Amino acid sequence: MTFVLHRNLVQAPPMAAAGDGCWLVDQDGRRVLDASGGAAVSSLGHGHAGVVAAIARQAAQLEYAHTSFFTNAPAEALAERLVRNAPPGFGAGRVAFVGGGSEAMEVALKLARQHVVERGEPSRTHFIARRMSYHGNTLGALAVGGHLQRRALYAPLLMPVTHVAPCYAYRFRRDDEDEAAYGRRAADELDAEIRRVGPERVAAFVAEPVVGATLGCVAAVAGYFSRVREICDRHGVLFIADEVMCGMGRTGTLFALEHDGVRPDIITLGKGLGAGYAPIGATMASERVVAPLLRGTGALANGHTYMSHPVACAAALAVLDCIEHDRLLDRVVARGDMLRAMLRERFSAHPHVGDVRGRGLFVALEFVEERASKRPFARARKLAESVRAAAMARGLACYPGSGTADGENGDHVLLAPPFIVGEDEVAMIVDRLAAAIDAAIDAAV
Ligand SMILES: Cc1ncc(COP(=O)(O)O)c(C=O)c1O
Repeated sequence: MTFVLHRNLVQAPPMAAAGDGCWLVDQDGRRVLDASGGAAVSSLGHGHAGVVAAIARQAAQLEYAHTSFFTNAPAEALAERLVRNAPPGFGAGRVAFVGGGSEAMEVALKLARQHVVERGEPSRTHFIARRMSYHGNTLGALAVGGHLQRRALYAPLLMPVTHVAPCYAYRFRRDDEDEAAYGRRAADELDAEIRRVGPERVAAFVAEPVVGATLGCVAAVAGYFSRVREICDRHGVLFIADEVMCGMGRTGTLFALEHDGVRPDIITLGKGLGAGYAPIGATMASERVVAPLLRGTGALANGHTYMSHPVACAAALAVLDCIEHDRLLDRVVARGDMLRAMLRERFSAHPHVGDVRGRGLFVALEFVEERASKRPFARARKLAESVRAAAMARGLACYPGSGTADGENGDHVLLAPPFIVGEDEVAMIVDRLAAAIDAAIDAAV
């Protein structure tokens, strides 16, 4: 009997009882290798003594003080740490801390709106985002999201947003294009859409620098995001980078867009920011975004009860300390290269693994029914879900996704193990996943 409104109302999931590094332990003592950190959350693994101690210290010192009366030391220190490490343009920026990724996206959308109004362009009410992206489950975030299954039920409630194509070379680059030409074509869709809507109506463009849950760790081709930046600048449109899943070291740099050398206007963070030790999200506003507010109302037209929560901010600070002190970004790059190399070796001749991709410890496999044509398995087969179940039966937790090929059909599985993953655990992930894939495909074909 359960009184929890679980995701599955018919069958409750097993009870997680403890965590230990890269492993989760259920109430029967069964150990599961956490190969996806939940949904790319647990970047330090489970039971990190330093983070736990920082949380206990902060809870004892000051557990809460409402932000309309007080600021607090962990929030100030965390904001400073983030802006000092952010891409250029954020050095004198500001950061809002909220309860998770979706809230961070809501703050980003509202901040973009407030910014354009305060700079004297209230006609800018329209947002453009990309198909096959996910930005969260609250209504604003769901509206900009392009995940068809998650949007469908709520579509009549969502604000109008238009979507352009993602930059997804495996499926959408034409044979007559090199990567540069493809990147230009994909970015130019944004230019065309802004012109179609009318630049004076567009507030912001929203994109995940490396697309996570919907496409499975798809990084853009070189040059795509620089062109996006140019297009946004040309039309006075803000660029919101949703780094909720791909940020905070997951791809080998603290901010995912560092890899592309591109400066967004607003960055959202979540997941790896608290690494599972605290529910926390953040919206980072660049100097350029904050400037008209400073000259104008001087106030953020938005607020939440749990903003700048001291314990959550202390946890996130301890996570960043650990990433820096233990040089974990180097480890993300090395272990990520190792994981992809082992997966490629194992699956290079596999008839149903079409692509192995990703950056850092943000890695995915895309499944196809036929390799040459890249034809996906039909959705009705629920292959991604079967891989997840077969993996769990083998003591491996991985994160499945579907709609990979066209928004509806297609399957992938996402791996995002903790940054502390050992070489033996990387090998174990590959072995268990290979067995799970074969079992699921045998059942599906
Ligand atoms: C890219 C991206 N943005 C936003 C969110 C929403 O974050 P949350 O689930 O913490 O609300 C997610 C969650 O998966 C995400 O992957």
